[in-house]
Amino acid sequence: MPQRPYIVGNWKMNGTRAQLPEARAIDRGAARHPGVRVGIAPPFTLISAMVEAVQELTVGGQDCHTQTAGAFTGDVSAAMVKDAGAGFVIVGHSERRAMHAESDAAVRAKAEAALDAGLEVIICVGESEAQRDAGDAEMVVGAQLEASLPRGDGLVPRLTVAYEPVWAIGTGRVAAPSEVAAMHAVLRAKLIAIYGDEGANVRILYGGSVNASNAAELLATPEVGGALVGGASLTAESFLAIVAAAGPAAD
Ligand code: PGA
Repeated sequence: MPQRPYIVGNWKMNGTRAQLPEARAIDRGAARHPGVRVGIAPPFTLISAMVEAVQELTVGGQDCHTQTAGAFTGDVSAAMVKDAGAGFVIVGHSERRAMHAESDAAVRAKAEAALDAGLEVIICVGESEAQRDAGDAEMVVGAQLEASLPRGDGLVPRLTVAYEPVWAIGTGRVAAPSEVAAMHAVLRAKLIAIYGDEGANVRILYGGSVNASNAAELLATPEVGGALVGGASLTAESFLAIVAAAGPAAD
């Protein structure tokens, strides 16, 4: 049976308790689309409150540390994210790779820490504009994935990959479906090479300026199992339009 499409909102450094009614509205709307799995990754500070506020949504973190505890001022471990009530964590977002100098090895260690803590994990990869212009996008992103993926038995059911071209994030420029299809095929082949047949079951999300008007076409693209949404996930109106593009309402 094909998996439900997975639509994940990444709130980035946005949101205080004042936005909980918005999360509740998203939750109510998501409940009307049982064929779609919907998640939100708010800032750490909102995870617990959002978990309390919603029923249908899966709530996640946007990052975690590689270690479980210790002298790491300002950091948050995967076990803490889990303890706050989250079900998943995003690792390797390009903003963290760029602004916090996270290497593929660090991303892999974070993914392994998240899985060890009992969380699902969304691993992000994506090329820069210069890399795409140079014709290197598929090579760069394939290598990024290979070096960022956790290894081990039994982890595939808790793994999601997100392809997010850096030049498409927050820019309003969305990758063409043909570019997305080509890249997702590369990623799928890599997943199967690493995990065997099970690699065929890992969802691959597209992210980068997904909105109500482009979501349907992107979600219909081969090997696109959902979307990772930044800006358009911040309001129920814009996010639920994307959820609706992923699957019909039940009533
Ligand atoms: P965007 O962000 O939808 O605002 O482009 C996507 C992301 O960074 O996950």
